[in-house]
Amino acid sequence: MKAISYSRYGSPGVLEPVELPKPVPKSGDVLVRVHATSVTSGDYRARSLDMPPGFGLVGRLVFGVLGPRRKILGTEFAGVVESVGSKVTRFEPGDRVFAYPGANFGGYAHYTVMDENAAIARMPGNLDFDEAVAIPFGGATALDFLRNKGGIKAGDCVLVIGASGGVGSAAVQLAKSFGAHVTGTASAGKREMVEALGADTVLDYTSRNPASGENLYDIILDTSGTATYSGYGAALKPGGRLLLVSSSLWQMLAALFARKTGGRKAIPGYAPERAEDLRFLANLAESGQFRPYIDRRFPLDQAAQAHAWFKDPARKGNVVITVESG
Ligand SMILES: NC(=O)c1ccc[n+]([C@@H]2O[C@H](COP(=O)([O-])OP(=O)(O)OC[C@H]3O[C@@H](n4cnc5c(N)ncnc54)[C@H](OP(=O)(O)O)[C@@H]3O)[C@@H](O)[C@H]2O)c1
Repeated sequence: MKAISYSRYGSPGVLEPVELPKPVPKSGDVLVRVHATSVTSGDYRARSLDMPPGFGLVGRLVFGVLGPRRKILGTEFAGVVESVGSKVTRFEPGDRVFAYPGANFGGYAHYTVMDENAAIARMPGNLDFDEAVAIPFGGATALDFLRNKGGIKAGDCVLVIGASGGVGSAAVQLAKSFGAHVTGTASAGKREMVEALGADTVLDYTSRNPASGENLYDIILDTSGTATYSGYGAALKPGGRLLLVSSSLWQMLAALFARKTGGRKAIPGYAPERAEDLRFLANLAESGQFRPYIDRRFPLDQAAQAHAWFKDPARKGNVVITVESG
C-alpha cells in the first residue's frame, strides 16, 4: 500500500511517499481503508518537533527521543472498515468510520488498523469522509475543555482566542450548541469565517485587546498560547475559568500559581481521545450544530504541500488530505 512516511524531524520536505505491506488486523482490531486524513497541529508538532517553550523534552518523549517513533503521521482519519479481527463485535466490513488515533497516528496511508475499543466511531450520516475526518482533533479537544474541564452551561459568556483555527473553529460551534454567548478572536481576514461559524461577536486581536474590560466572561478558551492569567484574569467573571489549551510551560505554571480571587481558575491540560466523544460529536454534526470548517484539500502524495499550507498565515480551520482508494 502507499503511505507517507518520515524518519527524521524537520521541514515538510521530510515527508516522503513509501510502499509498505498492508497491515493485518489483530483479533481486536479493525482494518480501515482510509479515504481522508488531515494536517493537525499534532501532526505539525510531531513532524517538526516545534513545541511550546518548556515542552521540548516532553515532545521527544512522546514522539521519539532520537527520531520519530511512529513513522506514519495522521492524528485523525475517516474511511471504510475493510475487515475485522476475530474478536471484534462493534464494527463490520463496510462501516463508514472516523477515528482519533492521536499520538498513535497512522492516517497517512491507504490502510490502517485500530483497536475497536479505541477512539473510533461510525461517521455522521450527513458528512462526507473529507468533512468527517476533521471532527476528532478540533472537536474532541474543544469538547473536553469546554464541557469537562470548563463546565460550560447555557447562558455562559465565552471568549474563544484563536477562533479561526482547528480547535477554535470547533470551540465556537460547540459553545453555541451549549447555549453560550460566544466571542471569537481572529486576524482581520478571518472575521467572516468566524461569524459564519456562529460567533455572536468577532474581535480582531491585531487591533484590539480582547481582554480589555473586567468581569466579562465565564470562560476564556485560549488556543493561541498567548493568554496569561495576569493579562486575562480580570476579564473573567467571578468563578470564571481560563482554559489553557495551548501554553508554554512557564505560562502554565504562572497561571496555576497566580493569586486568584472570586473563585476564578486557570485550567491547563491534555484532551484525551475517546470514542464516546466521537459519538457525541457525530450526533452534533447530524443535528446540524457542528460542521468542521475545511479550508483546503490536498491529495496524499502532496502531504508535504499540505503541511506547508498548514503554517501559512492565510490558512483557516482545517487542512484535509484525501486518500485515493485502490
Ligand atoms: N491541550 C491539548 O490537549 C491540545 C489538543 C489539541 C491542540 N492543542 C494545542 O492547541 C493549539 C491550537 O491548535 P490548533 O490546531 O487550533 O492550531 P491552529 O489551527 O494553528 O490555530 C491557532 C490559532 O491561534 C490564532 N493566533 C495566532 N497568533 C495569535 C495571537 N497572537 N493572538 C491571538 N490569536 C492568535 C490563529 O488565529 P489567526 O489565524 O486568525 O491569526 C489561529 O486561529 C496548538 O498549540 C496545539 O498544539 C492542545
